[in-house]
Amino acid sequence: MNQNVENSLFIRAALSQQTERPPVWMMRQAGRFMPEYWEIKNKYSFLEMCKTPEIAADVTMLPVNLLGIDAAILFSDILVTPEAMGGDLSFKEGVGPRFSNPVRNRSDAEALETDVIDKLQYVAEAIKEIQSRLNGSIPLIGFAGAPFTILSYLIEGGSSKDFKKTKYLLHNDPELAHFILAKIAKVTVDYLNMQIDAGVNALQLFDSWAQALSWDDYNEFSHQYNKEIISKLNRKGVPIISFAKGSSVFYPLMVESRPDVISVDWNANLRSLKDSLPAGIAVQGNLDPYIFYADKPVIKKRIEQLFESMRGVDGYIFNLGHGIMPDFSFDKVKYAVDLIKEFRY
Ligand code: CP3
Repeated sequence: MNQNVENSLFIRAALSQQTERPPVWMMRQAGRFMPEYWEIKNKYSFLEMCKTPEIAADVTMLPVNLLGIDAAILFSDILVTPEAMGGDLSFKEGVGPRFSNPVRNRSDAEALETDVIDKLQYVAEAIKEIQSRLNGSIPLIGFAGAPFTILSYLIEGGSSKDFKKTKYLLHNDPELAHFILAKIAKVTVDYLNMQIDAGVNALQLFDSWAQALSWDDYNEFSHQYNKEIISKLNRKGVPIISFAKGSSVFYPLMVESRPDVISVDWNANLRSLKDSLPAGIAVQGNLDPYIFYADKPVIKKRIEQLFESMRGVDGYIFNLGHGIMPDFSFDKVKYAVDLIKEFRY
């Protein structure tokens, strides 16, 4: 790893080393809340943007240049892996992601491909392009979706509020669910190792819909796969961040997979959760994203409260409990980043 990146606030905090302040980045920082994103988005479809390394690099660099965050995140999507496995993916304005060929039975599941790294080379190329533009200034985070979250998209055919079909599958035909999850896990290991080889400095595993599961189902259908994936990564000093909507409930299981960082949703008291973790596991989070609908003095107060509660803790990365929403004010997000960068422990 580049010396400057290795000594960056973000990498040091992710490895639970001392820092003079928490580093800050925000999930979905490269997105629709920025007018500059729309200038690009109006010319290309979302998947074209993901699949064209130059454009993916342009979008990745927007929050680096406009917000001044402490880490960049690859512009892509968690759904590029199931697409490579055979899912017919599209993104429609106001509808979100759609698979026109959802997986509904064993033969659909058998048709899912698992040797798909060749199809995902555009991501490796994007990573190389971004790293040459970042030129060692800040670290680059790569990512993938966790198998349960990806499974839910493949089964439902898109986003879901109640995960009816996914739950029906888990409960009624767990053997088929495990068959699909094992395929997704294999692809995810290959994909994340490809990203490490291409030069990412950290990785985040997104289990966005874990909170839909009971403790036992999370353990069986999500945690076991996340643990397997993390154990099979050629980490080479690249910190692994484990994100789940539900981390404030499931963290005792998440700890078993030995990520370097657990990214925490905003339901939790971050300090007491951090104090319950074994040494060497850092935390990331957990500002309520919806605070950005309030006025600046309120935003300031909440951010200061969170910072104060984490004072004296090594291994803290400032982030939201989940992602930036498209209608957040850029001005308020920038205000928050500037404020956090002034903190000193
Ligand atoms: O964080 C970043 O800025 C990096 C890029 C990134 C995107 N998606 C870009 C994106 C990352 C890390 C993701 C991850 C992702 N994608 C997750 C996990 C994180 C989370 O939020 O829980 C999930 C569940 C997805 C699936 C997905 N992709 C959905 C549900 C949607 C539609 C959202 C909506 O509100 O319409 C997307 C599309 C998407 N991914 C956009 C962006 C910038 C919007 C695309 C557009 O311009 O229309």
